[in-house]
Amino acid sequence: MLHQEPLLSKINKDRLPRHIAIIMDGNGRWAEEKGQERLYGHFHGVESVRDIVEGAAELGIQYLTLYAFSTENWDRPQQEVEGLMGLLVDTIHKEVPILNKNNIRLHVIGDMKMLPENAYRELQEALQMTEKNTGLNLIMALSYSSRWELVNAVKNIARDVKTGKVDPEGICADTLQNYLTTSEFPDPELMIRTSGEYRISNFLLYQLAYAELYFTNTRWPDFRKENLYEAILDFQSRERRFGKTGQQIQEETTLG
Ligand code: IPE
Ligand code: IPE
Ligand code: MG
Repeated sequence: MLHQEPLLSKINKDRLPRHIAIIMDGNGRWAEEKGQERLYGHFHGVESVRDIVEGAAELGIQYLTLYAFSTENWDRPQQEVEGLMGLLVDTIHKEVPILNKNNIRLHVIGDMKMLPENAYRELQEALQMTEKNTGLNLIMALSYSSRWELVNAVKNIARDVKTGKVDPEGICADTLQNYLTTSEFPDPELMIRTSGEYRISNFLLYQLAYAELYFTNTRWPDFRKENLYEAILDFQSRERRFGKTGQQIQEETTLG
């Protein structure tokens, strides 16, 4: 059994990741292991979302991206997709007052056109109702996939080249950044995936270039604040080199 206090007190508040991204995986298996329908797992996954959002806000994390539904997830059985969309609408509806109370601003990345009308409307409303909040930025990746995002970016750059708005010779990493759905957010520094799968599943492929990756066997519905603290502590124990040598990094740290 983990104890929250000691773990939390070990976290160095000066070295928190600015942006944490999470692939919330394992809801279906969690439910099946309990002899329940997959939707039961998604339902309980919402409790983890609540706990982790609260934990991230308390710590002072600035950006939290949660992968909630991928482009590929539309290919799941219709009943599951409908159940998930229903859960989405319900949850947003219930959570907006709590987001406001905690000064959390909601953002969405993904192909919103794919969402059912009521989910789309509910989301737009929630975005508007939280837009003045200045605390944690909660970014929900919904109907999102990285290849969808990159293809769109390329399309839009090509359009702007055609109209003369963009000079092809001047295209650089910053240009591409501006055309991504995440253009307003810094890259994630820590990426967590739950449920014991070791893959990225089409999530923020470009933005994760230098993220520290953390994998845990814990299924998403069991993931709580203390698991988040563990991941952050692991992150803080790593040396991020960005292509340099360890010695260079240590010298930079000593020189401040
Ligand atoms: C993650 O849990 C939630 C979504 C992808 C919507 P899964 O539904 O993928 O659960 P497993 O991986 O099948 O256990
Ligand atoms: C990734 O999980 C998408 C989300 C968590 C929303 P999946 O369960 O869809 O990924 P794969 O299919 O195991 O790679
Ligand atoms: Mg899964």
